[in-house]
Parts: sequence; C-alpha cells; structure tokens
Amino acid sequence: METKKVDPGNAYRLLGHGPTVLVSTYDGEYPNASAVAWTMPVSKEPPRFAMRIGEGHKTYKNLMESKCCVINIPTAEHKDKVILCGTKSGNTGDKLGPAGIGTIPSKKLSAPRLDFCAAWMECELIGNLELNGTNLVLVEAKLIECIPGAMDADDHWNAIKFPTLHHLGGSSFSVPGRVMT
Ligand SMILES: Cc1cc2nc3c(=O)[nH]c(=O)nc-3n(C[C@H](O)[C@H](O)[C@H](O)COP(=O)(O)O)c2cc1C
Repeated sequence: METKKVDPGNAYRLLGHGPTVLVSTYDGEYPNASAVAWTMPVSKEPPRFAMRIGEGHKTYKNLMESKCCVINIPTAEHKDKVILCGTKSGNTGDKLGPAGIGTIPSKKLSAPRLDFCAAWMECELIGNLELNGTNLVLVEAKLIECIPGAMDADDHWNAIKFPTLHHLGGSSFSVPGRVMT
C-alpha cells in the first residue's frame, strides 16, 4: 500500500477537527481496536494527544501493558467497522478476525495498523493521568502516515475526498460536506 509521511508538526490536523478514530493495540496474541471519539491534540511538537479510554476496556489494558497504540483514522464508508469496534470488546476474544477487519504491521511498534484506514499515527504511551477518578491517556506520535491525497497541498485534511466520522451519539455521525477557507 502506498503511503505518505505527514510532517509531525502538522499531525495535530488529523485530530483537531474531531474525527472518531480507531485505536489499535496488541496483547501478543491477537490485535484489537476500539472506537474512540474523545480525543484531542495537546502539543504540536512533539505531536502529543490525549484520549479518554475506559479503564475496563481491552484497549486500556493493552495500552498500559504494551505502552503503544496506533490511532487509525477511518472514513465514512467504514462506519460499520467503527460501530463494531465500538460495541464489541476484545475482553471476550478476537473481535477483528471474525469480522474480517484486516491489520497490517506498523513500522515502529508492535500495535498494528488497520488496513482500511486513511491515516495512521504510531504512538507511544507517555502518561496516564488520574484526575479525580477519571483517567486521561497521553500518547506521542512517533510516525504519522496517510494515504496519498488524504492531506492536501497545504497539509490540511482533505475532508471532502476523505470524509471522516464525527460522532453524534449511538450509531449516528455527521460527515463533512463543505470546507470554508
Ligand atoms: C462511535 C463510538 C465512539 C466511542 N468513543 C469512545 C471513547 O471516546 N472512549 C471510550 O472509552 N469508549 C468509547 N467508545 C466505546 C468503546 O469503543 C467500546 O466500549 C469498545 O467495545 C471497547 O473495546 P475494547 O474493550 O476492545 O477496548 C465509543 C464507541 C462508539 C461506538
């Protein structure tokens, strides 16, 4: 698969507009992925992101143990896969294989990439903040790549050609239909 490196200083543009992502991890036995809507950039350089991931989730356990994950950016056509990853738990076994959700190896980490996504941020865990009973996971992207064309010539996400999913609740999402410059 042809990929393009993204300037780490512009990685915040992958998450700053609020797309629902899939966070993939590996426990040494099988790969896993969870839908995550609650994310935000917290540092431009180095590219760092905060995510709220429930402590009971397999993703949280894998992330704490392996200290790495991939933030995968899916587009609207893959909504069903996002819902599956967001409604089934890897705690009860392999959810990706039986659903036909494919992975490819990452270039720097043990956590895999999801093969159908439009961009990937290979991240290392740098912190886990405990805030009055609510955790906030902090990660730093070590390698950021996208499908050629997903970022435009100005290194902005190409929201029309690669429409991301913006969670409204339940199985509803909005999808960008217009870009204003
Ligand atoms: C669209 C969508 C967005 C979600 N966003 C989050 C989120 O931001 N944080 C979170 O902890 N769980 C979120 N969830 C729920 C998890 O994805 C879900 O509990 C999942 O089954 C956890 O999988 P795991 O146990 O394999 O990690 C979301 C679910 C959906 C459908």
